[in-house]
Amino acid sequence: MLNFNYYNPTRVVFGTKTIGKVGSLAKLYGKKILLHYGGGSIKQNGVYEQVCNSLKEANLQIIELPGVVPNPHLSLVREGIELCKKEQIDLILAVGGGSVIDSAKAIAFGALLRSDEDVWDDYYMKQEYVVREAMPVGVVLTIPAAGSESSSGSVITDWEKNLKRDVGSELLIPKFAIMDPETNYTLPAYQTACGASDILAHLMERYFTLEKYNDLSDRLLESAMRNVIAYGPLALKHPKEYRYRAELMWTGTIAHNNLLDRGRVGDWASHDIEHEISGIYDIAHGAGLSIVFPAWMKYVYHTNIDRFVQFAIRVWDVSLSFDDKDDIVKVAIERLEDFYRSLDLPVRLSDANIGSENIRKMAESAMIGRTSLGNFQKLDADAIEKILKLAL
Ligand code: NZQ
Ligand code: ZN
Repeated sequence: MLNFNYYNPTRVVFGTKTIGKVGSLAKLYGKKILLHYGGGSIKQNGVYEQVCNSLKEANLQIIELPGVVPNPHLSLVREGIELCKKEQIDLILAVGGGSVIDSAKAIAFGALLRSDEDVWDDYYMKQEYVVREAMPVGVVLTIPAAGSESSSGSVITDWEKNLKRDVGSELLIPKFAIMDPETNYTLPAYQTACGASDILAHLMERYFTLEKYNDLSDRLLESAMRNVIAYGPLALKHPKEYRYRAELMWTGTIAHNNLLDRGRVGDWASHDIEHEISGIYDIAHGAGLSIVFPAWMKYVYHTNIDRFVQFAIRVWDVSLSFDDKDDIVKVAIERLEDFYRSLDLPVRLSDANIGSENIRKMAESAMIGRTSLGNFQKLDADAIEKILKLAL
């Protein structure tokens, strides 16, 4: 087990009818709130009204910035930065999913940069500086998926250049996250499925490590993966069943708040490759991951086949009666693909109507500003190209 340093300050307020607590939590950070949200789902399902009522009851002033879209745009981040400066905002409240939260995080540190720094060029693209300070971000989560409600990351896309990049800093971890599983009842089936796929991916990225002696993390990750595999389909089938939504929602946070990868280095190549796909084709992150992950596995599993055999046996219940390790791994990858298909997710680029036309471009773009991708196996542009071809 590697040495580690763990810090996660997000206060999680979880459960039914918890949105009413947002006012009292937000009040701890000041009087003026930037209410940041997406395309309107929160107005249709009543979350907006509950949030506003609670903020007003706490005598807080609300400035709104709606319009965040999935794969959030740099342009809205820039607008938010100017708004925060002009209005002297105290807290950014993200009400929605990963896209809204990531946009809020970008605004949170972008608003405090020096005048000679640029949020995109110097942070997301070049990773020239580390984040020095950030405004506080609070969250009302409406979709279990990205784990951004308690993660240090923010992923933004520059749609003028088709580049999707991330920044990570402990300073970006939200101060609080209100998580009411009932808000998930209105999620379209596709978003529920994409969320389950992203949660599973966060667990698998952490699972595929070269660190040998880190058994507790392995066991925790395996349990969490089994939870997604069990409850993802149930939540799809019974969208208004609280207990299924609750299982998925809490697993989503645990999967990405860094508790489950202490003492090891995870991989993350599949995420970076996926960001190239959604950065060009604007598909949902979870749908890109269900395409990339099986292909990545097929390409890298010989790097440490025993880890894949353990994954096959403990997560996918593959029988040891196969006496060939390759066969055991292949069955596990097939079960993973079947799981995605059962959620109606794409498992090949062609399932998402994506051809081979941009494969080389995506492989090269993934390497911009980086020397390699992934840790389980270090990948260069040629390797990424091969993985994407396996996904055709
Ligand atoms: O915009 P609205 O109208 O709110 O609709 C959203 C959006 O269309 C809808 N939705 C959310 N909650 C709903 C709902 N519809 C009905 N009822 C509800 N309760 O769902 C759609 C997707 O929302 P989005 O926020 O994009 O989903 P998700 O949470 O999957 O976030 C995806 C983004 O997070 C990034 C991804 O790359 C992607 O850009 N990630 C962020 C990470 C992080 N910061 O740590 C890690 C992840 O690996 C990921 O990369
Ligand atoms: Zn993800």
